[in-house]
Amino acid sequence: MVKVGPSTLPIDVNNMKEEIANLERAGADYIHLDIMDGEFVPNETLGVELLEIVNDSTDILLCTHLMVENPEKWIEEFSETDIFTFHIEAVTPEVAESMIQELHEREMKVGIAIKPDTSIEEIMPYIDEIDMVLVMLVEPGLGGQKMMPECLEKVKTLRELRPELDIEVDGGINLDNVEMVKATGANMIVSGTAIVNSTDRAFVISQMKK
Ligand code: DX5
Ligand code: ZN
Repeated sequence: MVKVGPSTLPIDVNNMKEEIANLERAGADYIHLDIMDGEFVPNETLGVELLEIVNDSTDILLCTHLMVENPEKWIEEFSETDIFTFHIEAVTPEVAESMIQELHEREMKVGIAIKPDTSIEEIMPYIDEIDMVLVMLVEPGLGGQKMMPECLEKVKTLRELRPELDIEVDGGINLDNVEMVKATGANMIVSGTAIVNSTDRAFVISQMKK
């Protein structure tokens, strides 16, 4: 069964509570909280304030996608997220190891994200210690981009290597390409624009889950 997680990126922060409740009623399995620091990526979002707003509005599973430099410095503030996902490009191997250990000590789940140009070799040293891999299908930093189908090869390979691993995919997923995305074995589908900007969110989510 695939799970569908709408991204918070296209949502107006002033309406965040109502929008999260609406997405939950529309059938969202979890919320994909996009956080940007203006350094790892040029754009910037609210930080922990956004997590607080979302956490206040719902008990739904929260997967936070941290597009930030020095993600180790964000662990304390984001300890209320269910899955803490950081980019492998933002850390050294030593920092990655110590973050995985710290997150697990805090009983948080750990995700590692890879950008389109990053190969899965980069995450293989950690693969059996983490809970999820996030394969980006666009360059992180902006919603509404076109999916890069060549990134799906990485998902296929990962799925062959680890049949049980949670694999999340993110970027440019819509009703026209979701079948192709699911065929790779990804089981956590993120979608911002295609769900949030739709006039029938429940329909889009149910089609994506099918
Ligand atoms: C991109 C973000 C994504 C993205 C999803 O940097 O991590 O979560 O906003 O939005 P769409 O589905 O519009 O690409
Ligand atoms: Zn994201």
